Amino acid sequence: MEVTRSRDYFIAGNWKMHKTRAEAAALAKALVKALKPGKHKYLVAPTFTALETVGAIVKGTNILLGAQNCAPEEQGAHTGEVSVLQLKDLGVDAIILGHSERRHIYKEDDTLINKKVKLALKHGFEVILCVGELLEEREKGKAEAVCKRQTEKGLAGVTPEELSKITIAYEPVWAIGTGKTATPDDAEAIHAYIRSVIAKLYGAQAAKQIVIQYGGSVKAENAAQLMAKEDIDGALVGGAALKEETFAPIAKFS
Ligand code: PGA
Repeated sequence: MEVTRSRDYFIAGNWKMHKTRAEAAALAKALVKALKPGKHKYLVAPTFTALETVGAIVKGTNILLGAQNCAPEEQGAHTGEVSVLQLKDLGVDAIILGHSERRHIYKEDDTLINKKVKLALKHGFEVILCVGELLEEREKGKAEAVCKRQTEKGLAGVTPEELSKITIAYEPVWAIGTGKTATPDDAEAIHAYIRSVIAKLYGAQAAKQIVIQYGGSVKAENAAQLMAKEDIDGALVGGAALKEETFAPIAKFS
């Protein structure tokens, strides 16, 4: 790892809609043990129903507790939604927002995601804002334009001070859960581009500091190559985050 790197690597596991509380507890306990000597920043994001269980296990360790979504309102008549106040009550540190499954399966648009980002920041959470293009958008040469739009609109109204709480996760939709990883060079090109978008919005120093994770079929076999790239500062891991044997080697890459 180059000595000049000023950003800490941040490796997060998104457990999506998997695991009962007992299964989540077993994984969390195994990860606490495995990552104890780890030198990067870590987060696990279990499903809502396992947040309390996992929170009790990772509390006081080097693993942060993440939620996979939140409602755009603080409270009220919103059947089926979970509020930032409830997440705070459970000790959640960070919220993943704008994940491609939220955008494409549940039709969340940039305006809704931005509302959630601002609400999460208002309540002191860290935010992992996911951006990324669909395969047809990439094939039409629109990858950069899509990432620019999602980044700009997702961050609309976010102050320079609040930006320090934001991590961007670049997740090309065609690489999520498909086994197709973007090559390190393809990923690096978009990461560098997103950093240039941040530079235009917030200045060079902020762009230098912001952490940009890569997500999409990250595995132990490709993690080190991806993270060797100058603008790739970590990973948001789905499938490989569901087992200690597959997540720990990614988290402890060197
Ligand atoms: P994957 O998912 O690692 O299974 O491709 C990544 C994500 O959706 O965050």
